[in-house]
Amino acid sequence: MNLEVVDRPEDARHWVEAYQRKNEVVGVVPTMGALHRGHFSLIERACNECDRVVVSIFVNPTQFAPGEDFAKYPRPLEEDLRAYRRYGVGMVFHPAPEAMYATDYCTWVEVDGLAEGLEGEYRPGHFRGVATVVLKLFHALPANFAYFGQKDAQQLAIIRRMVQDLDMGIEVVACPTVREEDGLALSSRNRYLAPEERAAAPALFQALRAGRAAFHDGIRTAEGVTRAAKNNLAEAPLFRVQYIECVDPERFVVPSGTLSGRELIVAAAHLGTTRLIDNLSLEEGTV
Ligand code: PAJ
Repeated sequence: MNLEVVDRPEDARHWVEAYQRKNEVVGVVPTMGALHRGHFSLIERACNECDRVVVSIFVNPTQFAPGEDFAKYPRPLEEDLRAYRRYGVGMVFHPAPEAMYATDYCTWVEVDGLAEGLEGEYRPGHFRGVATVVLKLFHALPANFAYFGQKDAQQLAIIRRMVQDLDMGIEVVACPTVREEDGLALSSRNRYLAPEERAAAPALFQALRAGRAAFHDGIRTAEGVTRAAKNNLAEAPLFRVQYIECVDPERFVVPSGTLSGRELIVAAAHLGTTRLIDNLSLEEGTV
């Protein structure tokens, strides 16, 4: 199948709508590029479930705070395009920043509550940038289904909420986290890790597993589960933890009473200058 690369939002929309007029089901996978097996799992699923798949590649400036890694974020476009061809993606939407944000751009999407804690606390403005760009991507790519990774669980919950609150006719599909064999969740940022940091990195997932194991050993409070995860990570070298919490999977607040078993343990930590996030459901069998 021919891979079209489109850079203007209006051309992207025409492409999607032309197939929908022929009753084809279109799936969209929003990414910032620098593809890895995590992205591929979303693309593969979209290709299995939809007639046409469009992937967006846009390193969105508004979701990076000053001092974060926007400038050095990897942009291996040619490599990414080769991978899309292999998977049978029909179109890549790759807009220039100016096509998405005019110099006098001033309209933002804020998802109250959900976007305030955890990632929202440590990355102020991040989710405003994510929600805004995803809304704009959905306008340019009014697909039937949109695929997101559980790896970014708070982002996923925020996008679901935005789609619901703004009556957007797109169905959000959540895909499980893809991990390295040693448990490290794949991320475009893992390439920043120095060898000794990479060797230490799986400890974050081990800590989440220790939290889950505590639940299955009978601990039934968020505090108890969190303590088990924190104690486990305290033994790992090099980590500077920002947060580890056990939260409700839709509202992202710490439940005060007895855990239901549907909660997520979520964590963020620095290894050197690289920031890692991860999460794990208390439910056995999930990744
Ligand atoms: P990016 O980090 O490129 O991720 C694109 C999609 O891939 C997201 O839905 C993310 O959750 C998913 N993903 C990343 N690592 C994964 C893994 N190990 N397993 C499964 N899925 C994984 O997330 C963004 O881009 C941006 O914020 C975006 C939504 C594109 C808005 O700019």
